[in-house]
Amino acid sequence: MLNVVVLVSGGGTNLQAVIDAAEAGEIRNARISGVISNNRNAYALKRAEKHGIKNCCISPKDFASREDFNKSFLETVELFEPDLIVLAGFLVVIPPKMIEKYRNRIINIHPSLIPSFCGTGYYGLRVHEAALSRGVKVVGATVHFVDEGTDTGPIILQKAVEVERGDTPETLQRRVMEQAEWKILPQAIDLIANGKIKVENGRTVTELG
Ligand code: GRF
Repeated sequence: MLNVVVLVSGGGTNLQAVIDAAEAGEIRNARISGVISNNRNAYALKRAEKHGIKNCCISPKDFASREDFNKSFLETVELFEPDLIVLAGFLVVIPPKMIEKYRNRIINIHPSLIPSFCGTGYYGLRVHEAALSRGVKVVGATVHFVDEGTDTGPIILQKAVEVERGDTPETLQRRVMEQAEWKILPQAIDLIANGKIKVENGRTVTELG
């Protein structure tokens, strides 16, 4: 059984998709052992609570320095003994020590088809604003392993979504979540929990089936 810890900052709809998939048996051989938020008011924490999942909050704001936070953050994550760390809309930079310790065991969901509209500054609605202003006709989402760069780690799964006439950043964001993010994040966890993803030379080899 893979122990999964989910890190969140906001509404937690991706967390909900993972909880629902796990409860429906669509994620096999994994359990969510904890949810950690950097934001005490994140609705994601209520979702964890509702499903009886242990949860806590740790914020850089409560520490004198980033170094102190990073140390305590790593200790907090370790309390849950994760085999896999899932970043589901987590807005805090992952400390290098954590990336090193959990190499190819931290995954992130990004709301674009990487390498488009990713990297520093591309988060939340900005991603969808940039896609609309470039006039692309297809957008999507990506689940990838986390390395030292921003959105640069090995890609696990991607799903495309069509841009529709009259889309606003808000409608596009919603459709990307519904049609892509909420599907590929649980699917990636299931693949990892069942030994179907290998990383070779910085790329993943996916064994679907
Ligand atoms: C999602 O769009 C995700 O792709 C991005 O942050 C957002 C989180 O939304 N990384 P939620 O908290 O899961 O509702």
